[in-house]
Amino acid sequence: MRTVFYTASTLNGFLADPHDDLQWLFDVEEEGGPDPGTFISTTAAGVCGSATYEWVLAHEAPLDVAGSWNESMIGTSPLFLFTHRDLPIPEGADVRILSGPVADHLPTLEAVVGDGVLWVIGGGDLAGQFLDAGALDEIRVDVAPATLPAGKPLLPRALGPDRLRLVSAQQAGQFARLTYEVLPG
Ligand SMILES: NC(=O)c1ccc[n+]([C@@H]2O[C@H](COP(=O)([O-])OP(=O)(O)OC[C@H]3O[C@@H](n4cnc5c(N)ncnc54)[C@H](OP(=O)(O)O)[C@@H]3O)[C@@H](O)[C@H]2O)c1
Repeated sequence: MRTVFYTASTLNGFLADPHDDLQWLFDVEEEGGPDPGTFISTTAAGVCGSATYEWVLAHEAPLDVAGSWNESMIGTSPLFLFTHRDLPIPEGADVRILSGPVADHLPTLEAVVGDGVLWVIGGGDLAGQFLDAGALDEIRVDVAPATLPAGKPLLPRALGPDRLRLVSAQQAGQFARLTYEVLPG
């Protein structure tokens, strides 16, 4: 299993504002921008935390609109959802709830993903939990031309050049795509 944390971020390292608003991202001109769908189509499964999941339910895949889940940005299948709560699941969506230490669930994830790619969707602390468990292989960030005074952090962990190796830096419209390999600790 290869785990890839792929996300968009503000220039100063936020995934969302403090209220989970993503308007800063939708304000960026789309022309020539990243095509996350291409990456997502290569993944075997996704994993996210509950704030990310609830954002999608609220903005892209209302529970009462049949089929909207599959059209949503994180409509990967299956989607592993980390939460301590019994959250609603859209009809027909393969959403599997997990809870507790990431390390405890790696065998389950590996059994599904095999030699494929697990998309770590976010948030940043969940990606950090994969890092803590020694199970984060790559960080791919589409950096938007936007800053926020505060918000949900990209990766609230301390990592230096001994752990991160820049693999590529590309322009995609108004975004800068930075890809890092995460080296073993
Ligand atoms: N810019 C982008 O492209 C991008 C990408 C991803 C996300 N986002 C946005 O960024 C924000 C991320 O929010 P966030 O930082 O709060 O992160 P999150 O990972 O989406 O949600 C955090 C919540 O997930 C649950 N959780 C996390 N780890 C768990 C574990 N090991 N076991 C059980 N439950 C666990 C906990 O909630 P409960 O247990 O209470 O459910 C926790 O409070 C969201 O607004 C999302 O929409 C943006």
